[in-house]
Amino acid sequence: MVVAEAIRWVGTQLTTEGISSARLTAEVLIAHVMGMDRSSLYCHFDEDLSKEQQYALGQLVKRRCNGTPTQYLTSSQEFFGLEFEVTPDVLIPRPETEHLVEHALEIADQGNRIVDVGTGSGCIAIALKKNLPTAVVGACDISQAALRVAARNARRLGVSIDFFVGNLAGTVRRESLDLLISNPPYVPLANLAGLQRELYAEPATALFGGEDGLQNYQILIPQAATALRSGGLLLLELDYQVRSAIEAMLHPGEWEQSEVKQDLAHLDRVLIVRKK
Ligand SMILES: C[S@@+](CC[C@H](N)C(=O)[O-])C[C@H]1O[C@@H](n2cnc3c(N)ncnc32)[C@H](O)[C@@H]1O
Repeated sequence: MVVAEAIRWVGTQLTTEGISSARLTAEVLIAHVMGMDRSSLYCHFDEDLSKEQQYALGQLVKRRCNGTPTQYLTSSQEFFGLEFEVTPDVLIPRPETEHLVEHALEIADQGNRIVDVGTGSGCIAIALKKNLPTAVVGACDISQAALRVAARNARRLGVSIDFFVGNLAGTVRRESLDLLISNPPYVPLANLAGLQRELYAEPATALFGGEDGLQNYQILIPQAATALRSGGLLLLELDYQVRSAIEAMLHPGEWEQSEVKQDLAHLDRVLIVRKK
């Protein structure tokens, strides 16, 4: 079977199973088993897949049809122009989260002391450190397995980050930070039944924020008020439906007026607030 035939075959299998972006996924999986990137595939349309490659491809297609996200099959996801290793121990970085990094880079300074809470693959912390090389960046997670993936990503991408196990920002030293950033788990458990099948492959600890999705914000916001210096900034990813509930957690005695930025779908996505 040559590449062009494999693309048609995999595309048909995925379409039949109702997998979205079937052609794109077919190309990504074929490029993966052939050990090349997707763009190179276009110069190899007539190249034969070996028997081993065809077998490996068949296995990947089966797993994709059974609901495993493509990124876990290829162990890879691009985020902020960087390639991250992803395993089922970490959330697959989402494009919306790139807004959090973009806004952090607009307001952070070189040399800032920054902590990323709930780092997962390390994508936020690593993207920040790549762009702010003299910042002192720490990153915590409750999951040791996630921290191992994050540490591998940092090493491969050539940045130094202080990774530590932590329950949200509970162990961060008082008034030690210029910026605290987090994309905490915020899917409401109440939505569990209606979730897309692929989400079940991601770690539950990375997704769910209690019954209403607000549990982590309730704990993290007061912790951030302790961990930030006066004038320090808190940046949080959020779901547009809970914006006002989160704003209501910001005690006016502790925080300046908050600002909310929207994502490409014009939905409220990033909350920015300065400690008084
Ligand atoms: C929504 S994921 C975000 C991962 C990554 N920052 C990203 O944006 O792709 C939330 C992360 O928070 C971690 N987490 C969940 N509960 C936590 C807690 N109590 N303390 C620290 N980290 C926690 C999860 O393990 C997961 O890695």
